[in-house]
Amino acid sequence: MEWCFSMPKLELHAHLNGSIRNSTLLELATALDEKDFSEVEHVILKYDDRSLKEVFKLFDLIHILTTDHDTVTRITKEVVEDFASENVVYLELRTTPKRNDSIGMSKRSYIEAVLKGLRSVNSVDVDFAPHSEDSKTFLNPLPSTTEDKCNRDSRKKIFVRLLLSIDRRETTEAAMETVKLALEMRQYGVVGIDLSGNPSIGEWITYLPALKFAREQGLHVTLHCGEVRNPKEIHNMLDFHPERIGHAIFFEEEHWRKLKSSNIPVEICLTSNIRTLSVPSVDAHHFVDWYNAKHPLVLCTDDSGVFSTSLSNEYKIVAMSFGLGRKEMFELSRNAVEFIFADNGVKEDLRTYFNSVAKNMEL
Ligand code: IMP
Ligand code: ZN
Repeated sequence: MEWCFSMPKLELHAHLNGSIRNSTLLELATALDEKDFSEVEHVILKYDDRSLKEVFKLFDLIHILTTDHDTVTRITKEVVEDFASENVVYLELRTTPKRNDSIGMSKRSYIEAVLKGLRSVNSVDVDFAPHSEDSKTFLNPLPSTTEDKCNRDSRKKIFVRLLLSIDRRETTEAAMETVKLALEMRQYGVVGIDLSGNPSIGEWITYLPALKFAREQGLHVTLHCGEVRNPKEIHNMLDFHPERIGHAIFFEEEHWRKLKSSNIPVEICLTSNIRTLSVPSVDAHHFVDWYNAKHPLVLCTDDSGVFSTSLSNEYKIVAMSFGLGRKEMFELSRNAVEFIFADNGVKEDLRTYFNSVAKNMEL
């Protein structure tokens, strides 16, 4: 199943700090004193089966280790390089802008550190900002597969766009601040807003004003939806008509009907759902029913570092568990081009690229 790795893929649901390399996390943890380190090491090395509650504890820990400008820059660079190395050609990276007065960090300077990380990637060409018509060709087009083989110098290219996350712990004002920041940062490739964080915390009504404002201003919106059993919130979220939703686990028949009729694409994070014990096994996962019902779906990692996975691995799990072949998996990947939040120019580039790969792969 090497083709799961070599096939071009789109990652639309990846949290920056959740995608941190384990080696980087351990290295950062060594800066702690011995007692704190042994506690942290235990949590970091417990890869499998962390409950959702434990995962959020781990995130608090990760944030203590990663929330300074240089580390944010480093992680961004590594995460982009890691996705590019497994043939992800379009990455929508999401992160929660953080404020930490004690180190002079504002939500804005946090995002500037992320941008610095994008600029510092050198193993691959990164297209992260929307370009004006006259600068459209400032980067190489996506190399075709034949070029890849014939021309050793042809460099890989990845499109990266950013989503700013509202954490469910935040107030309406803090959520609004994030949306305003996203608007200011549009020229640097911020394309939308995500709502995430511990799903057992907070109320939909708190975030609604900021999400409405985001939409009015032309930002795209995706929501973590149905990660816990909360039928009322799922209804409210679907009534809002986000452009995509993540997870969609605890859906009842009525939710499913609503989702189906609105045709909202779902970001599927299989390993994440299983590791957090939200879904008992791959076979019990809703992916297969919704795939058979031809609902728009995209495979994603969620937190490749925290859940020790990769996008290629998610493709492999789906192909093996549900008996999907190379062509079906390629189409699953290609369909995701239609759900991206970047502009039509990027979509068109990706469509052309997938067409050329399809020809070369004789699909
Ligand atoms: P960051 O926003 O870059 O700091 O990435 C980590 C954050 O993403 C966590 O603190 C959560 O707020 C959010 N996150 C990561 N995984 C999940 C998930 O499975 N459900 C909800 N939120 C998540
Ligand atoms: Zn997520």
